[in-house]
Amino acid sequence: MLWLLLCFADALVVASFEVIVPDKHLLAIRGGSAVLGCEFTPDPDLSNLVVTWQRSEDSQVVHSFYYQQDQLKKQSPEFHNRTSLFISELHKGNASLRIAEVSPKDAGLYLCIVSNAKGTGKALMTVIYGALYSEPRLSIHVNSTTVTVQFETEGFPKPEVIWLDEHGQNLNYHLELHDQTEDGLYLVKSSYEAQKPTVNVTFTLKNHLLNQNLQRPVFLSYDKDTTANQGTIALVLSVVCFFLVIAIIWFVRRRNKQKPSAVNHVN
Ligand SMILES: *[C@@H]1O[C@H](CO)[C@@H](O)[C@H](O)[C@H]1NC(C)=O
Ligand SMILES: *[C@@H]1O[C@H](CO)[C@@H](O)[C@H](O)[C@H]1NC(C)=O
Ligand SMILES: *[C@@H]1O[C@H](CO)[C@@H](O)[C@H](O)[C@H]1NC(C)=O
Ligand SMILES: *[C@@H]1O[C@H](CO)[C@@H](O)[C@H](O)[C@H]1NC(C)=O
Repeated sequence: MLWLLLCFADALVVASFEVIVPDKHLLAIRGGSAVLGCEFTPDPDLSNLVVTWQRSEDSQVVHSFYYQQDQLKKQSPEFHNRTSLFISELHKGNASLRIAEVSPKDAGLYLCIVSNAKGTGKALMTVIYGALYSEPRLSIHVNSTTVTVQFETEGFPKPEVIWLDEHGQNLNYHLELHDQTEDGLYLVKSSYEAQKPTVNVTFTLKNHLLNQNLQRPVFLSYDKDTTANQGTIALVLSVVCFFLVIAIIWFVRRRNKQKPSAVNHVN
């Protein structure tokens, strides 16, 4: 019975002041802004309110607020000019933090620590970083037997890459993944080698974290006679050019004979 009472008392104490984060895992996208949600039991008197957002790994100050204003002297330089609270929401118990221009370093654990006249509390959340893959750049290399189709793109985290033939069958491909640590992106180069004369393949890249699914079909056809045709066209063109040059020379000479003074002038 006493135990039950203690339990109730405990529940009452907990309920009197709470700090909660609605999203324990928040996805933050490169270059965008992220709102780290945090709610607490509000108190009409804001003069006692202290809000501190902190990195849990190294206790760096992300943002702090007391004496009814932002206090940024101890803010970690990484967050300068990028953070803000929703000041008008504080009296409702909303200590959410906005981080602008999200970069890879923003990934990690964040603590929302709040105290007011009703109590003190904290809650932990995780920020996960992702970057959409850029439009894949296509390049095609051709030699006498093989057509190499390559796509290149950057994003985060590691993608799933699939190459399919015209029947929807998986193809063997080449994949290079370069870790570009300074900007937090992977450079992905993927290529497929097809035998002439036709290529009908689809390159697919999936960023599962961001539900991104890029599909780029490639169709190429090499007419066996292409080079021959080009040769013929080149030959016809050179014959035409030759006769044109002859005609011009003949025309100029004729003119010169008619107007010798003009020729003297030119010389
Ligand atoms: C922050 O913004 C102020 C004014 O807009 C600017 O003077 C200052 O250089 C900025 N600081 C950083 C670290 O970007
Ligand atoms: C707190 O304020 C932000 C900004 O207005 C809003 O996006 C968020 O939904 C609010 N949270 C709650 C619990 O009202
Ligand atoms: C054509 O290119 C492919 C792929 O790069 C290579 O394996 C092959 O040896 C090349 N063939 C010739 C004739 O150069
Ligand atoms: C390439 O393959 C697709 C099926 O994946 C087919 O619908 C399309 O007609 C093919 N293209 C050509 C030009 O054969």
